[in-house]
This record gives sequence, C-alpha cells and structure tokens, in this order.
Amino acid sequence: MPRFLRRTPPVAPDPGALVAEHLEAGRPTGWFEPLYAGADRDPDAVPWAQQTPHPYVVDWLDDPVVTPPGRRAVVVGCGLGDDAAELARRDFDVVAFDVAPSAVAWAQRRFRRSPVDWRVVDLLELPDELVGAFGLVVEVRTVQSLPGVVRDAAMHAVGRLAAPGGVVLAVSLVASSNEVSRTWQGPPWAQAPSELAAYRAAGLERLALEHPDPDEHGAMEVRLTLQRPAGSVPPGAGLPIVPTPG
Ligand SMILES: C[S@@+](CC[C@H](N)C(=O)[O-])C[C@H]1O[C@@H](n2cnc3c(N)ncnc32)[C@H](O)[C@@H]1O
Repeated sequence: MPRFLRRTPPVAPDPGALVAEHLEAGRPTGWFEPLYAGADRDPDAVPWAQQTPHPYVVDWLDDPVVTPPGRRAVVVGCGLGDDAAELARRDFDVVAFDVAPSAVAWAQRRFRRSPVDWRVVDLLELPDELVGAFGLVVEVRTVQSLPGVVRDAAMHAVGRLAAPGGVVLAVSLVASSNEVSRTWQGPPWAQAPSELAAYRAAGLERLALEHPDPDEHGAMEVRLTLQRPAGSVPPGAGLPIVPTPG
C-alpha cells in the first residue's frame, strides 16, 4: 500500500500534560474533551474507563440504602455510559450527561439500543429544567476529578439535581484526613473529609457513608448516600407559581 494511504495511528494525548495545560489556563474541566477525542475510541486511552458499571452502584441498586422516590434518574459525568445504561436496564428513566461531547457521542454509540437520554451539559452551569427533577442522582468519580477551586460548586450542583425526597448516590475518593488531602497531587484529588459538608449546604442529609480501610496512600473510595428531605426545595429551583386572588 502506498505510504500516503496508510492511516497514521493516532497518538493519545498525555493526560498529565493536558491537565496541566488546562488547569494553568483556568479551565478546570477543559481537559476532558481533548482526552476523549484524542483517545479515538480506544477505551485503554481513557484512564478511568472500566467499561462496566461501578460495583458500588450495582451493589447499591441490588440493595438500596433507601428507596428513591420515582424512577427518574440522572447520571452526572457519565463518561462512557456504563452506569447510565445499567440504570436504564433496571427500568429507571435516565438522563445522563457529561461536559465532553466526545464522551457523550461515544456512550451513545456503545449503548445504541439503550433508552438513556444522553446530553452534553456542564454540571457547573446546570440548565433550570434539570434542577430538582430527579428521584435518584448518581455521581461516580466526577467530583474527585475536579480541582479544589470548583469542587464545592460541583457538589452543590449535584445536590440541586435531587427532587424533594430525592436520593443522591456519590462515589468518590476521600482522604483519611484533611491533612492527607492537602498535599494530594491530582487528578483524581482525594477529597478532604470536611469537604463533604458541601452536600449539606445544598440541603441534603447524609444517610450513609461506606468505605473500606484507607490504602497505603491514606485514601479510600467512599460510597455516600444522601437525601433531600421531602418538602425541601433545591437551592435555586423555581417555586411553584400560585395564582394571586383577584
Ligand atoms: C473520572 S471521569 C468518570 C467518568 C464516569 N463517571 C466513570 O466512572 O467512568 C469524570 C467524568 O466527569 C466529566 N465531567 C467533568 N467535569 C464535568 C462537569 N463540570 N460537568 C459534566 N461532566 C463533567 C468528565 O468529562 C468525565 O467524563
């Protein structure tokens, strides 16, 4: 075959270099799209792609800490889509979103037959229609992939997705102490235990926090179950319009 007709194999971008470039430029989420696009459909070039639903999510769905009200679910930072497809397989009515268009297109291709509603959405700029709209909110390893400057805002936004009575299932790397998290080099960033209070600021109550012992680096993958009390409205959600008499 003539040389010019041979396809040059794409070179997957170095994640470390991408992260450094975008963080330095003040774009904490800017590195995800070039990483997915540069992976050129090779999941091995996406460091977190397991191509299977997270076992914490599967276990939770088999034996939920609390039953979510209704079947509307949202998956935040859905990546290649495995958790979203698993929820849809279990008859949830699923919206799954990611800030990276290439991830969303890839997930859609992988789960062509799944009824998931795939969307390109930035968690940090939530459209009003998603606020308070879900009985179950699933966040797996997205918050931990964001630097400290935006993590509180990200957790707050995750909380805003939950309807009154809605349940949030979050899976995140958490340090064994605030001290350990202070010197942590990410991504992923091991969250400080004190940071998790940001979910409370979004009006959520903690129902369970489950994890194994910390690893040799002093961090552990945590499964958090939170709930918005019934009757509580998410911050920034539109209030019901009550007609004024006369
Ligand atoms: C570490 S990956 C985890 C992906 C997937 N949840 C998983 O467990 O395989 C983090 C994901 O969050 C997405 N993400 C990061 N910031 C986001 C934001 N502000 N809004 C929506 N998605 C975001 C990234 O594009 C990426 O797909």
